[in-house]
Amino acid sequence: MAIVLSLSLLVLLLNFDLREIAVAAEGYSRHDFPADFVFGSGTSAYQVEGAANEDGRMPSIFDTFTRSENWQGGNGDVASDEYHKYKEDVQLMVDTGLDAYRFSISWPRLIPNGSGSVNRKGLEYYNNLINELVNHGIQPHVTLLHSDLPQVLEDKYGGFLDRQIVEDFTAYADVCFKEFGDRVSHWTTVNEGNIFIMGGYDLGQTPPQRCSAPFGFNCQGGNSTTEPYIVAHNMLLAHASIVSLYKKKYQATQHGLVGFNLYSFNPVPLTNSTEDVMAARRANDFFIGWFMDPLMYGDYPEIMKNTAGKRIPSFTKDESKLLKGSFDFIAINHYFSVHVKDNPSSLKMELRDYVSDMAAAMIFSTDGAPPGGLPFMPWGLQEVLEYFKQVYGNPPIYIQENGQRTDRNSSINDTSRVEYLQGFIGGLLDAIRNGSNARGYFTWSFLDVFELLDGNASSFGLYFVDLNYPNLPRYPKLSQHWYSKFLKGKSIPLDGIVEAANSSSSGLYSR
Ligand SMILES: *[C@@H]1O[C@H](CO)[C@@H](O)[C@H](O)[C@H]1NC(C)=O
Ligand SMILES: *[C@@H]1O[C@H](CO)[C@@H](O)[C@H](O)[C@H]1NC(C)=O
Ligand SMILES: *[C@@H]1O[C@H](CO)[C@@H](O)[C@H](O)[C@H]1NC(C)=O
Ligand SMILES: *[C@@H]1O[C@H](CO)[C@@H](O)[C@H](O)[C@H]1NC(C)=O
Ligand SMILES: *[C@@H]1O[C@H](CO)[C@@H](O)[C@H](O)[C@H]1NC(C)=O
Ligand SMILES: *[C@@H]1O[C@H](CO)[C@@H](O)[C@H](O)[C@H]1NC(C)=O
Ligand SMILES: *[C@@H]1O[C@H](CO)[C@@H](O)[C@H](O)[C@H]1NC(C)=O
Ligand SMILES: *[C@@H]1O[C@H](CO)[C@@H](O)[C@H](O)[C@H]1NC(C)=O
Repeated sequence: MAIVLSLSLLVLLLNFDLREIAVAAEGYSRHDFPADFVFGSGTSAYQVEGAANEDGRMPSIFDTFTRSENWQGGNGDVASDEYHKYKEDVQLMVDTGLDAYRFSISWPRLIPNGSGSVNRKGLEYYNNLINELVNHGIQPHVTLLHSDLPQVLEDKYGGFLDRQIVEDFTAYADVCFKEFGDRVSHWTTVNEGNIFIMGGYDLGQTPPQRCSAPFGFNCQGGNSTTEPYIVAHNMLLAHASIVSLYKKKYQATQHGLVGFNLYSFNPVPLTNSTEDVMAARRANDFFIGWFMDPLMYGDYPEIMKNTAGKRIPSFTKDESKLLKGSFDFIAINHYFSVHVKDNPSSLKMELRDYVSDMAAAMIFSTDGAPPGGLPFMPWGLQEVLEYFKQVYGNPPIYIQENGQRTDRNSSINDTSRVEYLQGFIGGLLDAIRNGSNARGYFTWSFLDVFELLDGNASSFGLYFVDLNYPNLPRYPKLSQHWYSKFLKGKSIPLDGIVEAANSSSSGLYSR
């Protein structure tokens, strides 16, 4: 999703040197990774498909978000039009040399009413896409929910605020496993569960835009002090229910794996003071432990229970049992690291939201960021993987999103994205060499898509999508060239790729 929330807690732009550990791996190649390590790239349904009002698809909370008064960034009605151009896109994936494509299924396209009958046209589309991928030797890695809950369920009972979501989400997953599971090996239930909740129910900046003052503004309804915890609870129970269904009914014959996706900031203490070190640990407990502790041990971290008190629901014994070990892998999205400073004053507020319960201020840096882009902190991914290794027993991990933002209008000579990918994949290699159980890596995004926070203004793609022409032509960027070379086993120093771009006779790189 490539989320960069303007967090209300404390947003400072500082030029700290955040570098913690040097990324050692530089002149590496694909062959330095384990032979079965999966390299891919990804998108999500609402952001890439378009055809939002075609063939029986109904609106999701993401559609509603783009139609709200204070949003000016366009909408995903057309997006990158992959719904009509999937064959062309799969061919580009073949050209690039991807092992796998990460995409999401649109629930309101498959089951337009949220529950009940399946839309034949939706079924047909995902069968076509999956077949096209499999026939070209590309593994489909599928996310079930990527910010696009059917609006009808939001209207009917408040979506994730109600326990009914467990039944409906499980029934939707059942349809997906039954219809597509013979060809899909990797399933992720929810994308960025933690950010979906912080953005959607505390700060009110993302779908379904619920919040309460003074924690968020301009929301139609919501309660930032209570709803984030309720939503997380129902989301975890839905996830556990889906995993349990898969294990009972499908895993023995389909041999696939199911995981949960978390956004990871990699909180780094601002100073070496005990207070800041503890604050960074709390930030990890609140962002990661909120889901990882229930998934591993069947309950929330002590620090969260102590701070949120009655506002955090509790699990019954049976729910705990169902949650424990309810994953085959953990998926993470990581873009940059943040510094964390102790913020004890937030605990003195009479009413607290999820963010103030954390009592930690996050400080964003612009370290190494190109204009309009994300900071360059390649060691952060290594630290995140090290954290999962040391704190959560080194589970199998897929990095499902990592990539550099540029302005949509920028050149396709995207050297800053090449540097970014080369740095982070090098950090990933270092982590694997130090024992991390990482199994796969996906760049965000395969092609330019409709972005959650800046619509068509930014681009993360390996392919530029030219919105000025109705057929939305795709052009490979320099980063596609680099990633493709890498995937095909060539070791390429940065200077080499810039020269290659310079000597390209296609003229594409001079756009
Ligand atoms: C991007 O979206 C805005 C808002 O809808 C629109 O005015 C603009 O024309 C779009 N730009 C392109 C290149 O499609
Ligand atoms: C959705 O519900 C409406 C009203 O209940 C019904 O008319 C329609 O046929 C349903 N659509 C599907 C695809 O089930
Ligand atoms: C949110 O819920 C809390 C606890 O039930 C309550 O005290 C508070 O008034 C509610 N806030 C809003 C904005 O409804
Ligand atoms: C914290 O301590 C480590 C190890 O002693 C040192 O390398 C690092 O520079 C210190 N960080 C800060 C922000 O003072
Ligand atoms: C692209 O758009 C950004 C943001 O609107 C602007 O600052 C920048 O100058 C533009 N760049 C080009 C090359 O037009
Ligand atoms: C490598 O792994 C060891 C053992 O888990 C750990 O102590 C060390 O900090 C790790 N090194 C890096 C650079 O992460
Ligand atoms: C790329 O081409 C430009 C313009 O011809 C030149 O100034 C630059 O030095 C070249 N860069 C490399 C790395 O060859
Ligand atoms: C691409 O960008 C690099 C770094 O900014 C620059 O050295 C090179 O000349 C550019 N190439 C083209 C064809 O513009």
